[in-house]
Parts: sequence; structure tokens; C-alpha cells
Amino acid sequence: MYPLRRNRRLRANEAIRSLVRETIITPNDFLVPLFVVEGKGIKEEIASMPNYFRYSLDLLENEVKELWSLGLKSVLLFVKVPENLKDNKGTEALNPNGLMQRAIKTVKNACPEMLVMTDVALDPYSTYGHDGIVENGIILNDPTSQVLSEMALSHAQAGADFVAPSDMMDGRIIQMRELLEDEGFTNTGIMSYSAKYASAFYGPFRDALDSAPVDMADVPKDKKTYQMDYANRIEAIRETEMDIDEGADIVMVKPGLCYLDIVRDIKNTVDVPVAVYQVSGEYAMIKAAAEKGWLNHDAVILEQTYAIKRAGADIIASYFAKDVVKLIS
Ligand code: PBG
Repeated sequence: MYPLRRNRRLRANEAIRSLVRETIITPNDFLVPLFVVEGKGIKEEIASMPNYFRYSLDLLENEVKELWSLGLKSVLLFVKVPENLKDNKGTEALNPNGLMQRAIKTVKNACPEMLVMTDVALDPYSTYGHDGIVENGIILNDPTSQVLSEMALSHAQAGADFVAPSDMMDGRIIQMRELLEDEGFTNTGIMSYSAKYASAFYGPFRDALDSAPVDMADVPKDKKTYQMDYANRIEAIRETEMDIDEGADIVMVKPGLCYLDIVRDIKNTVDVPVAVYQVSGEYAMIKAAAEKGWLNHDAVILEQTYAIKRAGADIIASYFAKDVVKLIS
């Protein structure tokens, strides 16, 4: 008697393993998040995201050129807004000379072929740290969608290729699409954060942008009235299908690792590219464990990236993009 099939034959050495490997990672898979600050000559490390930085516009140029040289051709921009420019309705977000609008131009100047996506949400601009306008303890939906669509238009006017609304208001995609079409931005794409969960893994990101909800009376302490309940699965499909119907070109699931079941559900359901965001807390966990010598950093980031792609991600937004690309080249 011998085993009917010896699966280990296909695992015997690296040559046969690579021959039968089902999932391949390339630089084309990645979208690189970048944090931008005002000032000059600034490259400051984010305390809860070791080896990840905020850049002033002059140094952003070098970073973008380095990404391009590594084969990384898409970036997702976030800005840290000075406290004195924040208010409840994102006024500064619409400033044609605001930091985001200048950052878009900076990237396009430094690297004209780089695909520029921009975060569209009020939280970095909000005194209250919410993705929407706050009134009597409520996050207003429709007035927020209105501002977000104007913000998207402003990014398109500054040269963004794709706008990426990360707020989870209802109906904001169609409102944004219509305004972009009306204003002639027919080729500006929308990558919608469609299934975005109310997650504790966003903590380090909120440190990076100083954008956490503030602790004040009449301001909700969390984002659970707009971001999704992590107990839910079917709802993610509904959210995603609605965003596609409203005009989203790319949909996103966020966070990554804990939500790979959702990624697969959505990949099996929709016919547009699916992006996955491996978020700041996922980054921080690995960095912390590696610093302590408890995990092998490089091995773990590769394994997680493969897992995300294997689950169905067409696009991976990751703070590890540079590291992974160096490891696979
Ligand atoms: C804000 C936004 C968040 C992230 C991306 N856009 C934070 C939040 O919703 O509170 C999180 C990204 C990360 O944690 O890496 N609209």
C-alpha cells in the first residue's frame, strides 16, 4: 500500500513550488499610502508606525521618485491639516491651494505618470475628528455628501486621477459622480471604500493625521453610525453593490487581514476591481512584534501580502509596499 496521491511531490524544492504557485505578487499590485504635512525639509516618523513617515512637499518628491524606481506606480494621498484650519464642515478641504491640492500637483510634477488617488473624507479637516458634519451628536449624511462631492471635484481639478471616498455616507458616490460628470471630469475615477468597518485597527493612522474623534459632549466617541459593524457579512455585499450601481470604478474592503472572508465574498460577487487596505494597526502590530524579536518581520509581511492577494485582492493598499517589493525583486 502507498498513498494514492503524494502531494509532497509538488513541494519538494523551490523550483517545483514556484512552478505550481497559484498566487504571484508584483509591484503592480500595490497602492502606496502617503502622509503629507505642511513645511519644508520635513520627514517625520509616525510614533505608532515605526519607519513610516509624514513628508513635506519638497521631500514628497524624492519619495515618489523612489517609489517609481521600485515599480510602484500608484499612490494614495492623505494630508495632516494644521489645527487652525479645521472646522465642522471641511472648509479647508475645498481650498484650491490647500495641502492636498498642492500635494497632487507635486506628485504629478515629480512623476507625471504616477497614478494619484486622493482620500476624500472630512476627518483630517474636522475639529471633531469625524468624517462628517456633526450636529447635536449626529453625523449629518446629505450635507456631508455634498461637501465630499465638492472636495472630490477640487481634487480632480488639481489633477487627481482617482478620488477615494473613505467616509461611508450613504449616496455619496452618485453625488460625486454626477458633479464630476457635470464639470467635465468624465475620466476621473472613483475608488470607493465600500465595505469599511468601524475598526480599532485605525488607531495609528489617526495618530499620523491627528484625526481621532475628540472627547467632547455631543460628539460621538466612535464612528459606528457610519462605518460598518464587524459582525456583519451580507451588509458588505449590499454596500459594495450599491456603490457600483452609483458609479464606483473600484471598490475596497478595509481593514485587510481580519476581513479576508469579506474580500472573497465580494470578489465572487462583483465584476469591478477589488482593493484591500492593510491598515495602520496591522502595520503597527507586525512592527511591534518584530521589534521584540517575536516575529520574523519579512516572512510575516510576505505571508500576509500573499494571503490578501489569495483572498481576492486585485489592488493592495499597504504601508509595506516598498518592503515587499524589495523582498520579491
Ligand atoms: C479616514 C480614514 C481612515 C483610514 C483611511 N481613511 C481612518 C478612519 O476611518 O478613522 C484608516 C487607514 C489606516 O488605518 O491605515 N476617513
